[in-house]
Amino acid sequence: MNKLKTIYICSNCGVTSPRWLGKCPSCEAWNSYVEEVVAKEEKSSKRSSWKELAASSTQILSTSLEEIQVSQADRIQTGDSELDRALGGGLVKGSVTLLAGQPGIGKSTLLLQMALTVNTGKVLYVSGEESEEQIKLRADRIQKQKSNCYLYSENRILNILAEAARLKPGLLIVDSVQTLASDDLESAPGTISQIRECCHQLIRFAKESETPVFLIGHINKEGDIAGPKLLEHMVDTVLQFEGDKLYAYRMLRTLKNRFGSTDEMSLYEMQSTGLRPITNPSELLLSQHEEKLSGSAIAATIEGQRPLLIETQALVGAAVYSTPQRVANGFDTRRMSMLLAVLEKRCGFFFGQQDVFLNLAGGIRINDPALDLAVVASLISSLEDNALHRQICFAGEIGLSGEIRSVSKIEQRVAEAARLGFKAICISKYNLKGWDPEKYKIKIVPLATVNELYEKVFAK
Ligand code: TYD
Ligand code: MG
Repeated sequence: MNKLKTIYICSNCGVTSPRWLGKCPSCEAWNSYVEEVVAKEEKSSKRSSWKELAASSTQILSTSLEEIQVSQADRIQTGDSELDRALGGGLVKGSVTLLAGQPGIGKSTLLLQMALTVNTGKVLYVSGEESEEQIKLRADRIQKQKSNCYLYSENRILNILAEAARLKPGLLIVDSVQTLASDDLESAPGTISQIRECCHQLIRFAKESETPVFLIGHINKEGDIAGPKLLEHMVDTVLQFEGDKLYAYRMLRTLKNRFGSTDEMSLYEMQSTGLRPITNPSELLLSQHEEKLSGSAIAATIEGQRPLLIETQALVGAAVYSTPQRVANGFDTRRMSMLLAVLEKRCGFFFGQQDVFLNLAGGIRINDPALDLAVVASLISSLEDNALHRQICFAGEIGLSGEIRSVSKIEQRVAEAARLGFKAICISKYNLKGWDPEKYKIKIVPLATVNELYEKVFAK
C-alpha cells in the first residue's frame, strides 16, 4: 500500500521542502509555503520507457474529433431565471461551480433558494457552518413550496462524499469550502492544502457521478477567493456575489464559465423573505424624483449582455481642508481623477480646490467605459450648479485629450434609452456608423469633444 507523506510547497514558485519555511529561498516570497500530501511511490514498481510501452501494444488510444459523439449537454433549470442566465442557461451535469462572496452577502440564501426550487430529484445541502435547525429556519423564511432537499451538517469530506454516494442526489451543495477538512492532512480547515485536497475529491465525485456540485467560497479582505487562484482554476464555473451591504441590491457576476459566456450579470434584491431576482433593472436604478437636480446625469451602460441605465451623482464643493477630498462609490477613483484632469487641462474647469464626491445609484459597481460621459456631465453640472434635463442620457468614453470615443453595443444602449422614454441620448460622433439612428424614437446628439458637450448640453 502507498504510504502518505507530507511535503511543503511554495505556492508562488512551486519549490518543495520537507519543512515549512517562512521565506522561500528560491523566489523570496514570504509565507508562501503550504502543506501537501503525497503518496510515497513503491520502490519495487519498475518504470518502463515509452519505447517499451509503445512496443507492447499497438492500439491507438486517442480518438479523432469527428468520431466523438456529444450528448446534448442538457441543462438543469434551477428555478431562478437570473441564476440560469449567470450559469449560461442552467446547470450542466457533472459541473462544479464556485459561488464566491463576502460573508453575509447572501450566498447561503441564494443556494438554499435554488435547492428548494431546482428541477432535479433530491438535493443534498451540506453545511459546515450552520446547524440543520438554523438552515430549516432560513428555509421557512424563504417560503418556497416545493422541496426535496436534504440537510447535512458536516465538514469532513469523507463523510460528505459517503452520504452523497448513499443518497444519490441530483445536486450537491457545499457551504463552504473553507470549513471542509480531510483527515489525511494535519493542517486546519481553511488552509490552502485542505481546500485543494477537499475540492479535488469533490470534483472527482462530480465527474464520476455526473452530479452537479455547488461550492460556496468566502472572499478575504483583499477581495480574493480565500484559498487563492488555484480554486478558480480547478472548478468549471466561478460566480461572484457582490453588493454594498448598506443597500439591498446584490449582483451575481460570472467570472469564469466553461459552459457559457463570462460577461453575464444578474441582479437581486435582498428582502425579508429571501432574494428576489430583478428582471428589469433600469427602471429600478433610476431615481424616482421628478424635479431637476444639479450634479445628476443618467448613463446608458451595458453590463454583461444587457443594457442598464443608471444614475451618476456628483457633488462638487469648496474644500474645507487644504487637500481636497476625492471620493467615488461604485466608480474607480483613479478614473475619476483622470476625468477631472481632462476637465481642467482641456476644458478650463477648475476642480483644484474643490472636494469631489461621486456616487452610482443603488451601491452598484459597474466597469463600463461608457460611464465616463455621464460622470463628466454630472461633474460639470454640480460645479456650475446647472441641472441637466431629466430626459437626457449619456454613453461615451473620454480620452486624455478630451475627445469622446465610441463605445461597444451602441444600438442596444440607444434602444434601452428609447424604451424607457428618454428624449435624447448623447453619444460619440464616431459611434454613428453601421446602424440606423432614425429607427429609434429618441434624439441622437453626436459629440466629438467634452467642449462640445458643454456647448450643446449646458450652455443656455
Ligand atoms: P447569508 O445567506 O447568511 O449570507 P452568506 O452566506 O453570504 O454569509 O445572508 C446573510 C444576510 O441576509 C443576513 O444578514 C440576513 C439577510 N437575510 C435577509 O435579509 N432576508 C432573508 O430572507 C434571509 C434568509 C437573509
Ligand atoms: Mg453562509
